[in-house]
Amino acid sequence: MDTTPSARATEARKSRHLDIALEDDVASHLDAGFSGVRLHHEALPECALEDIDLSARVFGHDLRAPILISSMTGGTERARAINHNLAIAAERAGVILALGSQRAALEDPSLLVTYRVRDVAPKVVLFANLGAVQFNYGVTIDDARHVVESIAADALYLHLNPLQEALQTDGDTNFRSLLPRIAALCRTLGVPVVAKSVGSGISVRTAARLLDAGVAAIDVAGAGGTSWARVEGRRSGDPRREALAETFAGWGYPTAEATRALRLAYPEAILVASGGVRSGIDVAKALALGANLAGIGLPFLAPATQSAQAVSEALGSVVEGFRIALFASGCRQPHELPGALYGRGSSETRIAESRTSTSNTST
Ligand SMILES: Cc1cc2nc3c(=O)[nH]c(=O)nc-3n(C[C@H](O)[C@H](O)[C@H](O)COP(=O)(O)O)c2cc1C
Repeated sequence: MDTTPSARATEARKSRHLDIALEDDVASHLDAGFSGVRLHHEALPECALEDIDLSARVFGHDLRAPILISSMTGGTERARAINHNLAIAAERAGVILALGSQRAALEDPSLLVTYRVRDVAPKVVLFANLGAVQFNYGVTIDDARHVVESIAADALYLHLNPLQEALQTDGDTNFRSLLPRIAALCRTLGVPVVAKSVGSGISVRTAARLLDAGVAAIDVAGAGGTSWARVEGRRSGDPRREALAETFAGWGYPTAEATRALRLAYPEAILVASGGVRSGIDVAKALALGANLAGIGLPFLAPATQSAQAVSEALGSVVEGFRIALFASGCRQPHELPGALYGRGSSETRIAESRTSTSNTST
């Protein structure tokens, strides 16, 4: 591919991100919080495992499971193969695929092919991706429309990554007055705009501003999975910058906590929980905490460097674990999961409390 100097720099950055994510320990120092969440165990489910229906409907699309492969890559030849493998597996499994930031393709249209997956996955529900801050660096709403249309995407992920940009040597750190631009984008784009973090989470107050601006959904993309502070620290190759980045390795809202807080604050919002979701049980816990979808990134990256079949196997294990978690918690469908949260204030505790108070009254 013939590329411009700035596209070559973006391509080199994207390639380095893949190497670091695949080879280095860049896990957040925070736990995503799923280990502290417990689901009810149903010893008498009164249904067969095959009766469990994992299907879900989001933005008018039918999914076979409420799972999303999180945005990861694009812009390099290697990324093209990875995106193809992810797309084939996502279409087979009936889950959503989100692509990595398409900034590289705006800088150099010849890189567009590295994001195109419709030839191998014509029906997959597909999210395009752009960094919101790019609207302060020359990207226009027409560019965003092009990003969506050029890959025939069904929605646009808008990532919000101030920490990551601040830790890059030449990061794009002008986040001034972005909200009105996001609002204008939501009004005119024509497909849903989904706001996401990149591993630090989104607070209740920030979500209020984004929802008022018209975003269709929020992905908390919380802490507990891949730490972009650590990734950028490694990439810098500068020991002082890396040490500075390491001090942010525990920054952000853990995914489980952020998901719960957003669901309590916004009962009707469409929420995605991502960041440190590592199994079908985590998917079930994320939905029990109030998410409509659970997103998983890094665990699918290594399989995607091998083949679509390797991604299908990894995805299959998550889906099967999710199915068993529903069965064993007495839920036939994902929307029943919030009723299966176990612990203080859970339906189980309330039942026990009401039985105790009834028996106390009757003696
Ligand atoms: C290698 C890699 C590249 C990523 N690139 C992007 C990106 O281009 N745009 C974006 O919004 N998020 C990006 N992310 C963040 C994920 O979409 C997501 O927010 C988070 O990493 C999911 O958590 P997990 O990796 O812990 O499962 C990337 C993550 C990884 C691991």
